[in-house]
Amino acid sequence: MHSYRVLVVDSGLMARLGNSTRKFLRRKTCAIISDSNVAPLFADRVKKSLTLAGVRPILITIPAGEKSKTLNRAGTICDRMIVAGLDRQSFVVGLGGGMIGDISGFVAAVYHRGVPHIQIPTTLLAMVDSSIGGKTGVDTRDGKNLIGAFHPPSLVIDDVDLLKTLPRRQFIQGFAEIIKHAIIADAKMFRMLQSWKAGPAPALQRLIKRNIQIKSRIVAKDERDRTGQRALLNFGHTVGHAIERAGNYRKFLHGEAVSLGIVAACAISVKRAGLPTDQRATIIDLLARLGLPTRLPHTFPRKKILDAVKFDKKFEEGKVRFVVTPRIGTARIAQDVTLDDIREAVKQL
Ligand SMILES: NC(=O)c1ccc[n+]([C@@H]2O[C@H](COP(=O)([O-])OP(=O)(O)OC[C@H]3O[C@@H](n4cnc5c(N)ncnc54)[C@H](O)[C@@H]3O)[C@@H](O)[C@H]2O)c1
Ligand SMILES: [Zn+2]
Repeated sequence: MHSYRVLVVDSGLMARLGNSTRKFLRRKTCAIISDSNVAPLFADRVKKSLTLAGVRPILITIPAGEKSKTLNRAGTICDRMIVAGLDRQSFVVGLGGGMIGDISGFVAAVYHRGVPHIQIPTTLLAMVDSSIGGKTGVDTRDGKNLIGAFHPPSLVIDDVDLLKTLPRRQFIQGFAEIIKHAIIADAKMFRMLQSWKAGPAPALQRLIKRNIQIKSRIVAKDERDRTGQRALLNFGHTVGHAIERAGNYRKFLHGEAVSLGIVAACAISVKRAGLPTDQRATIIDLLARLGLPTRLPHTFPRKKILDAVKFDKKFEEGKVRFVVTPRIGTARIAQDVTLDDIREAVKQL
């Protein structure tokens, strides 16, 4: 299994989309799956480019937001594809952020037992994170991503021009995953980020490419998430997920919760992995510099975070597997982190 086959990071790619697709996939019909914010911005261009290349696309637009990422919705999408006459020789294009990437990938994984998936990520988070690694899925009433399949896309097309319409808060949250990648695998990128300025497209393209490399390398060692290598990508996510859940998925965006989770993971890393305190401070500075939260509001229900951690994680004899960083650029799994360590770190947030 490959995590991805082809991947392009460039601006102005939309116009060339149809031809690139035809080069890799000799298929004539497809469903473009998008959401209600993204479709009005880009769907016409995607449709036109595919049509010019001899592909017949149908557009399926679902309401924007995580609430749409359900099994029911995936079923409705499949029904519409069947009615439109799409058969095993068709393919699926996901045009949108991580929500669309996940549900369209899931549809592609199960439609006629699997058709090719093309991703056109339109958020920074989707470009550097969710479109890489082949995980697709939907949420259930009780938790996120509990139903899914591994189904790596045949082609991912990253066009930084598409990020121009992205709301600022959404853009910034993508940096939480970028900083995470730097902390766990790339001290040089970390230093580069310390002087990062919102600037020309080529710099952003290079940054996206580097992040894709980091994530794909980690994923390639453990594609099915079994050996523990891939778990390193969860740095900052144990507490991050718990904060998202405690805020009912409304208070913080995923990247914002991960930023806070990284701060907590650094406190635990100081205690359990010997992370120097000046490096912890440097990490917190970088998160803040890029506009990410590093403190919880005073009124935030901290106890709910602990409850969510307990819900999420198996504690064996009071200990849990937790990703720590001994120094910027490296990470490992610690076996000796206790619930008290996590409680203390959350208290300090
Ligand atoms: N599969 C994986 O490995 C993986 C990894 C990380 C996250 N995820 C999933 O990704 C999702 C989060 O992704 P996301 O942050 O991209 O969320 P999202 O897809 O919900 O997009 C965020 C918001 O931005 C809007 N938007 C997207 N692109 C836009 C653009 N170019 N211009 C204007 N508005 C735009 C969307 O309509 C939405 O309102 C979650 O469902 C998460 O579970 C999956
Ligand atoms: Zn994440």
